Amino acid sequence: MEIIRTVAELQAKLGEARSRGTIGLVPTMGALHAGHLSLIERAREENDTVVVSVFVNPTQFNNPTDLATYPRTEEADAALMEGAGVDYAFMPSVEEVYPEPDNRQFDLGPVAEVMEGAMRPGHFNGVAQVVSKLFRFTEPTRAYFGEKDFQQIAVIRRMVELEGFEGLEIVDCPIKRETDGLALSSRNVRLSAEQRSVAPVIAQVLRSSLIKAREMSLADTKKWVTDTINVFPFMNVEYYEIVDALTMQPIAEWSESEQPVGCITVFCGDVRLIDNIKYVR
Ligand code: PAJ
Repeated sequence: MEIIRTVAELQAKLGEARSRGTIGLVPTMGALHAGHLSLIERAREENDTVVVSVFVNPTQFNNPTDLATYPRTEEADAALMEGAGVDYAFMPSVEEVYPEPDNRQFDLGPVAEVMEGAMRPGHFNGVAQVVSKLFRFTEPTRAYFGEKDFQQIAVIRRMVELEGFEGLEIVDCPIKRETDGLALSSRNVRLSAEQRSVAPVIAQVLRSSLIKAREMSLADTKKWVTDTINVFPFMNVEYYEIVDALTMQPIAEWSESEQPVGCITVFCGDVRLIDNIKYVR
C-alpha cells in the first residue's frame, strides 16, 4: 500500500491504474472500524485498484467542537488499510483539498432538507463539496457508501446527477453492527462504559418496532420507538422519522411508501448516534 498526500501524486498513480482496469473508491474520515472495513472488502472484491480516502472534512462540520473532538488515528488507520489490501491510501491535508475556499452551493433539493439536513445546516453541502472533489481527483469506476448514513447516500446520488458523473456507480453497503446491535461508528469511542452499555437499546428498539409496526399505525410506531428509547438513562431522541427510501420524505401512513425506512438520531450523553431500519410492507 502507498500513502499518498497530494492530488498530483494520486492522479499520476491512478492514470496507470485506470488503463489496467477498474478503480473502487471508499471515502472515509478515518478512525477506521469494521464498518469501514466492510466497504473496503467489497471494493477489493469488485475492483482492480482500491483507493481509500481518509480526510476529516471541515466543511461538513456545523459544530466546531465536533470537528475538534473527531477522533484521528492515522497510524492505526494505515495499518488497517494495509491489512485490508488497499492499494492507495489518500490522506491529504486541508490545504491540499481546499487550496482556496469552496463556495459552491449545491442544489441538493428535498433529500437534503429533512432530518440530518434540518438538524445540521450546511452539513450535506459540505459532504457534496468534498465527495465531488474526491470523485474528480480519483475518477473511480465505483464508490462505496454505508447505509448507516442512509440519507447521505441519497444526497450523494443527487450530487452525482447534478455534477454529471456519468458511468460512476454508487454502491450501497449494509450497516455493520456490534454483536449487541450497536451500529459501528467512529464516535462510539467517545461513549463512557456506562453509556456504551445502554447504547445498544437504539438498535434493539428499532428491531422490535418491526413487529410493532405490523399492528400499529405509523404515528404510533414513531411514538413507541421514541418513548421507549427515552426511558433509558443518557438517551435523548433528537428525531425519529419514517421516510421513503428513495425520496427521503417523511410519510404519514405505511401505505405511502414501497420501502419505508425509519431514521433515528439519539444523543447518548453528548455523543450523537445515528441508526436506521427498513420496514417490510
Ligand atoms: P465516515 O463517517 O468516516 O464514514 C465513511 C463511510 O463508512 C460512509 O459511507 C459511512 O456510511 C460508512 N460507515 C460508517 N459506519 C458504518 C457501519 N457501521 N456500517 C457500514 N458502513 C459504515 O461518512 C463519512 O465518513 C463522510 O461524510 C464522507 C462520506 C467520507 C465525506 O466526508
